[in-house]
Amino acid sequence: MNYYQDRPIDLNAVLNFDAFLRYAEKVALLSLVMGLQPKRILEIGTAKGGAARVLVYGLDWLCNDGVLVCVDPEPSWPEEVKYSIQHRAKLVIGYSPAALREAHQMAGGDFNLVFVDGEHTLQAVLDDAHGVLPLCEKGAWIVFHDALYHPVWTAIKSLIGKPRLRNVGWLSTHSIYHVEDGEEQTRGGLYCLEVVE
Ligand SMILES: C[S@@+](CC[C@H](N)C(=O)[O-])C[C@H]1O[C@@H](n2cnc3c(N)ncnc32)[C@H](O)[C@@H]1O
Repeated sequence: MNYYQDRPIDLNAVLNFDAFLRYAEKVALLSLVMGLQPKRILEIGTAKGGAARVLVYGLDWLCNDGVLVCVDPEPSWPEEVKYSIQHRAKLVIGYSPAALREAHQMAGGDFNLVFVDGEHTLQAVLDDAHGVLPLCEKGAWIVFHDALYHPVWTAIKSLIGKPRLRNVGWLSTHSIYHVEDGEEQTRGGLYCLEVVE
């Protein structure tokens, strides 16, 4: 008889990681790591390390030798987060895209999965995408957080159809409402592009 013996997942623990992510986004990110089985993940913008914990949880579940490199000029990983991910996660303190070369060196090769969640302006998201593209392996997925936020979505729309990129689409459209300068803004959402050549 053929059967698969999967390792259990403590989904409740993952959902409770303190991240700037909705539950659906945590599940989508975890599923992506489990499905793609990336060896080298890049996170642009890590803040308190909540998404980093989700990504590392996925790598631990895979039991591979995968690593996560996070780039942020002002990371704020609490001690317990640092402790729980330091066996796989490395931190580059700096700004994307300038710090991406160092992140690539730390990873030891081209990235297979990139989570873009740094500065949320149109130009910054474009700079992140253009900066990371030469550092990605064919078949890598680039996932943009807060894709429902207007400047981020405008950047993504201008990347769709560009050479080397295949439009994958939405992984999550669950929105987060956020007040900015007294105005309600929609955030949240995960959108994916695949590096095809
Ligand atoms: C929304 S938070 C990231 C949240 C994190 N990904 C999570 O889900 O737990 C955005 C972070 O991006 C960082 N950031 C801003 N500009 C950046 C840049 N140019 N490169 C990398 N990180 C940047 C900020 O310091 C902040 O910590």
